[in-house]
Amino acid sequence: MTMKEKYGDWALITGTSSGIGEEFARRLAKEKINLILVARRKERLEKLSAELSKAYSIETVVAPVDLSQDDFLTELKGKVGNREIGILINNAGFGSNGEFINADADHETKMVKVNCVAPTVLTHHFVPKMVERKRGAVIFLGSIVAFQPTPFMATYSATKVFNAYLGESLWYELRKYNIDVLSLNPGGTETEFHRIANSATGPVPRTAEQVVATALNALGKKPSVVDGFYNKALSVSSKFSTRKLTVIISGWITSALYSKKIAKS
Ligand SMILES: NC(=O)c1ccc[n+]([C@@H]2O[C@H](COP(=O)([O-])OP(=O)(O)OC[C@H]3O[C@@H](n4cnc5c(N)ncnc54)[C@H](OP(=O)(O)O)[C@@H]3O)[C@@H](O)[C@H]2O)c1
Repeated sequence: MTMKEKYGDWALITGTSSGIGEEFARRLAKEKINLILVARRKERLEKLSAELSKAYSIETVVAPVDLSQDDFLTELKGKVGNREIGILINNAGFGSNGEFINADADHETKMVKVNCVAPTVLTHHFVPKMVERKRGAVIFLGSIVAFQPTPFMATYSATKVFNAYLGESLWYELRKYNIDVLSLNPGGTETEFHRIANSATGPVPRTAEQVVATALNALGKKPSVVDGFYNKALSVSSKFSTRKLTVIISGWITSALYSKKIAKS
């Protein structure tokens, strides 16, 4: 069975103007699935929309929406109309690093809105129709930092464990309605993320193509997946240590990576 036969004609993907979201759009377009492309940078969405609709003879809708705005759903509903969304990919997100006390409070709050509030609102809005149709798929973007508290990326790692737990819990709740839910946990991946977060991919960077292939291979088979062997090893390492030691080691690693931004204590 193809993805289109299994889940339906339309997918809504957030964060499709770059990185992992753009790659999800490319992969689903190859499956002949029509796309609602969501992000703020309209020109990039229009370019991708034109390219994919021409290459794969699919329908696309460009939805330049800022997911940090309180009323984003009203704006998005206007773009979606009565199209039946069979796949929802809650991908949009960003991070920051440095000491929490020096972070800009508005920036951190916006991060919680984009990374956590938006996936909650979107999932709550689109899943009831999937339940009625008895088919659908939802993907949440967790991260390798969802496996341990991550000092100096404190808010970001908290937003990612939120997605990881929401996804895994909904995997259980929604499976009786034939809806596949996946919490996707990438490690350092070469996208625009690290320029924006002022962070680094780490020693074994992955590509968006690899991350999306991992996700689509795991969807419908398990509640969560970690992309890449190195990241899988990292994700289990915290199981062999106390919580206190895990946080301390995590803090050492991030302070070594981002030492310029962290005051010596
Ligand atoms: N790259 C990594 O190493 C890595 C690792 C683990 C998890 N992740 C997760 O993977 C997801 C995708 O990140 P990426 O690596 O592909 O980064 P990216 O290339 O920076 O893409 C982020 C996407 O999110 C969109 N976005 C950001 N703020 C938004 C807002 N207010 N409203 C609407 N869209 C917004 C951006 O579009 P606009 O700027 O055009 O709005 C962009 O399309 C994120 O959830 C991230 O946490 C990434």
